[in-house]
Amino acid sequence: MQDKVDDLKARQEKIKKGGGEKKIARQHDKGKYTARERLDMMLDEGSFQEIGMFVKHRVQDLGLDEKEIPGEGVVTGRGTIEGRNVFVFAQDFTAMGGSLGEMHAKKIWKIMDMAEKAGAPIIGLNDSGGARIQEGVHSLAGYGGIFFRNSRNSGIIPQLSAILGPCAGGAVYSPALTDFVFMVDKTSKMFITGPQVIKSVTGEEVSAEELGGGMAHNQLSGVAHFLDQDEESCFARIKKLLSFLPDNHLESPPFVENDDPLDRTSRELRSIVPEKPNKSYDIRDVIQEVIDSGDFLEVQPHFAANIVIGFGRLGGHSIGIIANQPKFKAGCLDIDSSDKAARFIRFCDAFNLPILTFTDVPGYLPGVEQEHGGVIRHGAKLLYAYSEATVPKLNVIVRKAYGGAYIAMSSGHLGGDYVLAWPTAEIAVMGPQGAANIIFRREIKAADDPEEVRQQKVDEYRESFANPYQAAAQGYVDDVIEPENTRPELIRSLESIKDKREELKPKKHGNFPV
Ligand code: HXC
Repeated sequence: MQDKVDDLKARQEKIKKGGGEKKIARQHDKGKYTARERLDMMLDEGSFQEIGMFVKHRVQDLGLDEKEIPGEGVVTGRGTIEGRNVFVFAQDFTAMGGSLGEMHAKKIWKIMDMAEKAGAPIIGLNDSGGARIQEGVHSLAGYGGIFFRNSRNSGIIPQLSAILGPCAGGAVYSPALTDFVFMVDKTSKMFITGPQVIKSVTGEEVSAEELGGGMAHNQLSGVAHFLDQDEESCFARIKKLLSFLPDNHLESPPFVENDDPLDRTSRELRSIVPEKPNKSYDIRDVIQEVIDSGDFLEVQPHFAANIVIGFGRLGGHSIGIIANQPKFKAGCLDIDSSDKAARFIRFCDAFNLPILTFTDVPGYLPGVEQEHGGVIRHGAKLLYAYSEATVPKLNVIVRKAYGGAYIAMSSGHLGGDYVLAWPTAEIAVMGPQGAANIIFRREIKAADDPEEVRQQKVDEYRESFANPYQAAAQGYVDDVIEPENTRPELIRSLESIKDKREELKPKKHGNFPV
C-alpha cells in the first residue's frame, strides 16, 4: 500500500511543479506568478480543492506524443473566498505556454458546468499562448465549448475573468462574454490579431502594450472593467467585487451590517452640487456622501467617464449605482456611456441588485460623429435596459434632466419605482437657452436690444419650467426632497420596495438593440 501512496505523492508533486524550475523562474522574471501561486493568493487559505489534476492530452502528432504537459496547462478546481464557494481555473503558462488543447478545454468545461450546477461564481485566470497549434481544430472546438458555456451561464452565475498574461486570437471572446474583466498594468495583453499581423495587413505599427495592454482596454475599447498595478491588488479587487454579489441569479446579494446610521443626514450635499447649472462637480462626491460609509467600488472608471457606474450599499443592501458625471462632457449621454451603463444595468437586474440612479444630464451629445456612429442605436440600449429591469429602481434628480436623456435616466416612465428630486432639479424638454431661442425667436429678432430680450426670455423660461414642480405636479416625480435628507429618504424607499417581485411576460427573449 505504502508504495502506491508514495507513487501517488510523487505524481502529484511532479504535476504541481508545472513546467519545471526554469519555466517558473522565467515566469517570475516577467513579474508574473504561477497558476498555483495565484490560486493560493486569491482563495481562502487551504480551501483549494483541485479537480482533474491527472488529465492528459491524447495527441499523437507533431511530436506531442513525446511531450508531457503537466495538468494539461491549466489548474482547475474550487475553493472559497471569504468563506463562499467559488469555482476557478488558472492557465499555467509554464506548461507549454498555457496553450489550449482539447483536454485543457475539457478541464475548463467541467469547472464551468460544476459552477453552474452548484450556483456559484466562476473565476478564470487567463495566461495563455492561445489555441495549441499542434492540436488544430481540436483547440478550436475547445474554445467553442467555452464560449457556449459562457453564453449559456450568463445571468445564472457571476463570471469573472482576470487577464494575467497574453490572451490572443479568438481566446479573448471568453473574457468578453463574462461579466467583468480584470487587467494588470504591463502584464495583461488582449487582442484578436497581434501587432505583427496588423503590420502585415494594414501597415500600422503599434506595440503590444499600446494595442492591447491594460490601459488600451480600460480606457479606449471598454473591453475591461478594472486595471490594477499588480496581481495582489487585482485579487483584492476580485474579492471586493464578489462581496457585493450573490452566488447566483436566484439569491439575494449578501447583507452587510455596518455602523453608518440609517438616518444620517448630510449638509455637505448642499455645497457639492453648484446651483449654477453650468458649473461642474464630481458626482462621485455625492455618491460617497450618500451610501454606507462612502464605500464605492467604481467599475470602468477610465472608460466613458461622463457616466459613473459601480457598487455600494444602502442600509447594508448591495446596490448598483449609475450617475451622470458633469465633470466630463458636462455629463452628456453618448455612444460609449450608453453602452457602459446599459450593460451594467443588465448585470444588476440579472443578479437582483437594486439600481440607484443619480441624474444630472443636459441631453445627448450633439455631433455628426455621434449620429453616424449610431448614437440612436446605442442610446436605445439604455432605454431598453432600464425598461427591462425588474429590480427596485430609485432615482435622484439632483440638477439637470432634459429631453430624451431625462426619460432614459431611470424615469418613472421606464418603470422607475421612486423618482426623487432636489429643489435644484430642472426637468424640461430642453435647457432654457435652447428653448428661449426657439420659442421666442421672433420676439428676440424684432427687439431693439435682442440680447436683453433673449436673457429675459431665458429667465422667464427657467422660472416657469426649469424646476422639479411641473414634473411633480404630474406625479412624474414622487417627491421633492432637501438634499441633506437624500440618504435617509433613499433607505426608506429601498426598504419599502426591496422585496419587489415583477415578472416580465413569458417570451423567448427580447431583441436588445446591440
Ligand atoms: C503551442 C505554444 C503556444 C501555442 C506558446 N507556446 N504559445 N505552444 N501553441 N499557441 C509554447 C512555446 O512554443 C514555448 O514552448 C512556450 O509555450 C512558451 O512560449 P514562449 O514563446 O517562449 O513565451 P513568450 O516569449 O513569453 O511569448 C508568449 C507568446 C508567444 C507571445 C504568447 O508564445 C506566442 O506568440 N505564441 C503564439 C501565439 C498564437 O499565435 N497563438 C494562436 C493564436 S490563434 P517551449 O517548449 O519552447 O517552452 C488562437 C485562435 C483561438 O488562439 C481561436 C478561438 C476561437
